Amino acid sequence: MRAAVHTRFGHPDVVQVVDAPLPVLRAGDVLIKVHATTVTSAETAMRRGEPLWGRVILGLRRPRRRLRTLGLEVSGVVESTGPAVTGFRPGDEVFGFTGFAVGGHAEYVRLPANGSLARKPANLTFAEAAAAVDGASTALFFLRDKAKARPGQRVLINGAAGSIGTYAVQLAKHLGAEVVGVCGPANVDLVQSLGADEVIDYTARDFTADLDSYDVVFDTVTKSSFSKARHALRKDGKYIPTTGLTNNLWALYTSLLADKRVVTGMSVNKRALLPVIRDLIEAGQLRVVVDRTYPLAQIAEAHRYVDSGHKRGNVAITVVD
Ligand SMILES: NC(=O)c1ccc[n+]([C@@H]2O[C@H](COP(=O)([O-])OP(=O)(O)OC[C@H]3O[C@@H](n4cnc5c(N)ncnc54)[C@H](OP(=O)(O)O)[C@@H]3O)[C@@H](O)[C@H]2O)c1
Repeated sequence: MRAAVHTRFGHPDVVQVVDAPLPVLRAGDVLIKVHATTVTSAETAMRRGEPLWGRVILGLRRPRRRLRTLGLEVSGVVESTGPAVTGFRPGDEVFGFTGFAVGGHAEYVRLPANGSLARKPANLTFAEAAAAVDGASTALFFLRDKAKARPGQRVLINGAAGSIGTYAVQLAKHLGAEVVGVCGPANVDLVQSLGADEVIDYTARDFTADLDSYDVVFDTVTKSSFSKARHALRKDGKYIPTTGLTNNLWALYTSLLADKRVVTGMSVNKRALLPVIRDLIEAGQLRVVVDRTYPLAQIAEAHRYVDSGHKRGNVAITVVD
């Protein structure tokens, strides 16, 4: 099969499409013929070997063999199932998350049937469905389960034009909160169209100067910090970043000693989240923003674009035309 691999860390051109062996199916696995996948900013960081401390996991000098084919989000058709699998059959259209195993940037990927896998939203293309996995479920995990966003709250979404951000704006509205989105000048219209009550262009105004204004600051791109954002939080407010080792220390400290808290987490198991996302999409209550779509052969170009740090929503890769 064709697969995109990177055998060293570095610029986008280290990613090359080569012939690779088919994944070996275990008893509880589903083999998926990948129709579409995405390139996320998490994967471009893995390709660069960043952050440096992450190389303990990624590989010290070059990518570990099992992490050379990236690909977190996939949508496609079940090709075959292991003997212990119930719940999925060949021919089922699915969308799912490979997590720490990665491997989605290929013509076939295996996923545990009891893992982050669900029936694909019927009203989406495969490219849209792949783009509805990680950003959407991560936004749901942080806003519903960690922030407990609800009516009466004012929720600020920093990075509102990104993958997590475009879903976060819509989901915070869906949960009943008043939503303020923060993005650059080119994306103000997009964020408004997603339902934000107010949009802040970060080149014109710094939201951290809005004293005592927000119950939740969801910093989807971790471009701010608790030190800056704390003054913008109301009493008992939460600052929720998506990355950053020091934020975990802040989370521990503030959980013990402060009335404004840092809340961190990792959305890895998406088993229960994906059906919720699918139902919202099928009900027309959640929109998927796909910025650009590239064929697998041009995946290095997709990496280059994601590296710009300014994609709108998601960048999809089509594997089957
Ligand atoms: N903890 C978890 O479970 C988890 C899960 C998934 C992802 N993540 C992490 O979450 C992070 C965000 O992922 P993502 O895929 O949503 O990012 P993304 O889509 O790559 O973010 C791109 C967006 O960032 C915006 N942006 C750039 N500079 C900004 C600034 N100074 N202020 C506000 N917005 C700015 C850009 O908007 P403009 O062009 O308008 O500037 C662009 O739309 C990544 O670091 C990823 O590793 C964590």
